[in-house]
Amino acid sequence: MSTPAIHYHTVPVGNQSIFYRESGTASPLVLTLLLLHGFPSSSHQFRNLIGLLGPDFHIIAPDLPGFGFSSHPNHTDFAYTFDNLANVIDNFTQVLKLDKYALYVFDYGAPVGFRIAMTHPERVVAIISQNGNAYDDGLSDAWNPIRAYWKEPSLKNRETVRQTLLTYEATKWQYTQGVVDPTVIAPESYELDWVLLQRPGVIDIQLDLFLDYASNVQLYPAFHKYFAAKKPKLLAIWGKNDPFFLPAGAEAFKRDLPQAKVVLLDTGHFALETHAPIIAGQILQFLA
Ligand SMILES: *[C@@H]1O[C@H](CO)[C@@H](O)[C@H](O)[C@H]1NC(C)=O
Ligand SMILES: *[C@@H]1O[C@H](CO)[C@@H](O)[C@H](O)[C@H]1NC(C)=O
Repeated sequence: MSTPAIHYHTVPVGNQSIFYRESGTASPLVLTLLLLHGFPSSSHQFRNLIGLLGPDFHIIAPDLPGFGFSSHPNHTDFAYTFDNLANVIDNFTQVLKLDKYALYVFDYGAPVGFRIAMTHPERVVAIISQNGNAYDDGLSDAWNPIRAYWKEPSLKNRETVRQTLLTYEATKWQYTQGVVDPTVIAPESYELDWVLLQRPGVIDIQLDLFLDYASNVQLYPAFHKYFAAKKPKLLAIWGKNDPFFLPAGAEAFKRDLPQAKVVLLDTGHFALETHAPIIAGQILQFLA
């Protein structure tokens, strides 16, 4: 089959406008894949994967509120919590009438996607977690400045998180750390993220989300209960040199889902920047 074009749309969802990439059309004969991106990126991170999987699936990849080309209301006007991101994306799927899909979750996309899956287990036919964590085992020491901020949400700790994680250098580092040959990393990945992070208000949005990330860790037991009760088909495919999410987080899915498939790749956090064809091949096999 030929590769369908990728279309770029924006749709109103409540007070937000949500940008998304779409390839193919919804049909009872074709599975829909819902791709949920991570920090500090957007659906741009899926640009290669969408092309590779386009012939086989209907694909939808939204930008979360505050990210990419979706609306980014000031944090004084919209509460940037993971519950709210999940509510907006859940509403987005209902605006698009997506009632059955496989989820691809990465980084922030994981706690958003797992919340939606817990709310609508009947809609989610399979989960691909690419460095999308749900276990304490997966959290590395890179989380320490954020953990300190959770413990004491002071301006001083907020400033430390800003200086550690919300700089140009940190943005680039997330793409290059753990990558065997960094010359394969296209600079438009981190350069675009950095340009969008510098828009007025966006750093505060990101700091609020770092603070609320604690709510994800608190929900891990609920995620595990959902996995064990609903037994979604799950592929954990993981850049094993990810400085934030350790490969133990990929293996841990097997505690609640003994049938889960775990694939570790010799790369970093943004594994799609180096391994898109390999990940696409694994997804085709897994969903066949
Ligand atoms: C946006 O948030 C900042 C604080 O981060 C605040 O100083 C500013 O007044 C807010 N702007 C609007 C338009 O509410
Ligand atoms: C999602 O949709 C429901 C039902 O229309 C609405 O009550 C809720 O406010 C929406 N949530 C968000 C965050 O947009």
